[in-house]
Amino acid sequence: MPFYVKVGTVPPKRHTTFYKPDGKSLYREELFSTKGFSGIYSNKYHLYMPPQVDNIGELTPDFIKKSSELWNDAPLQYYHFITGKKNSKGNFLTSRNEFLKNEHITISTAHPSEDTDLFFRNSYAHEVIFVHYGQGEFLSEYGVLPFEPWDYIVVPKGTTYRMAFSQYDNNKLFIVESDASFEIPKHFRNEYGQLTEDAPYYERDFKTPRFIDPVDRKADFRLILKVQNRFFEYILPHHPFDVVGWDGFLYPYTFNIKEYAPKVGKIHLPPPIHLVFTTQNFVLCNFVPRLFDFHPNSIPAPYYHSNVDSDEVIYYVFGDFMSRTGVQEGSVTLHPMGIPHGPQPGKTEASIGKKETDEYAIMIDTFNPLKVTYNVKDTMIGDYSHSWLETK
Ligand SMILES: [Fe+2]
Repeated sequence: MPFYVKVGTVPPKRHTTFYKPDGKSLYREELFSTKGFSGIYSNKYHLYMPPQVDNIGELTPDFIKKSSELWNDAPLQYYHFITGKKNSKGNFLTSRNEFLKNEHITISTAHPSEDTDLFFRNSYAHEVIFVHYGQGEFLSEYGVLPFEPWDYIVVPKGTTYRMAFSQYDNNKLFIVESDASFEIPKHFRNEYGQLTEDAPYYERDFKTPRFIDPVDRKADFRLILKVQNRFFEYILPHHPFDVVGWDGFLYPYTFNIKEYAPKVGKIHLPPPIHLVFTTQNFVLCNFVPRLFDFHPNSIPAPYYHSNVDSDEVIYYVFGDFMSRTGVQEGSVTLHPMGIPHGPQPGKTEASIGKKETDEYAIMIDTFNPLKVTYNVKDTMIGDYSHSWLETK
């Protein structure tokens, strides 16, 4: 939703007649809107009526086999777990493993290992899909979005899509679902909505869907809909990518983490300086290669902090993270609200005098406590909570 986009063919005026080439039958207009009729929206023009469905059924909870089951008596402690240990097989949907969640957010990873003819629509949640490994095409009613490693794919709630990878040997996704939309922070925009000169990204950095011809095919097509923890299967009588054109502000798009232009300060700047997206219930930030603070006595590593209103999740993407010992690509640390955290022994001193870092990581700060699933229990590093003891 960074800006207005028009793709394919749309009528000159919305909500007016728009005939197919036969001059008699109408294309079907669908207003796809948010916040009732007050938020951002798009108008899509379909070959067929969007509500058409042949059959509706509920899938058993093990459709996504791998546990969203909560570890309800998990202790309040620090967590470090290795998401790569849950390298389950499946397609872009069924390979998902949920690790952390609350009523507003679900954090998963997936290792898609096979193609599928399924379509997916997350009916209750927006998604940010970070492509750690893999490349291919994100296909939706809006067209095709090529994706490559380290792209964020921002998917509005209700988008019908499928992901096709160029290979299925080594793919890894980090997926964040949110019941509230992912927004560009307000202070990155000027009064006209354009990104400001000091925003960490620019409109040109956002890639929008490219037009593909609508698919005019009548057959049975399987659409999986996710509704919180339930899954439904709709059998559609026509191909869902039957859009001849659309326009508006609401659509999927990509942004590559390498395009993020970080800000640096004379002394340590707090995490909001690394903001990428805000939602009503959490923020998403990223740490990217940058110069360190330039005060002659600066300490680049963060101070110890108790952010009493946030659970802090960090997903480690690449490089030697400056404040953590023992993390690897695909590690996640969870530092819950209510207990302080900060650099591990030796990391503060080691940062002094350093000029730059080449780390890549994604951080999510939630405003409500997260619950951990059994996937966390299965993959965690047992003694992380004691790793600040200097005798260790
Ligand atoms: Fe922190």
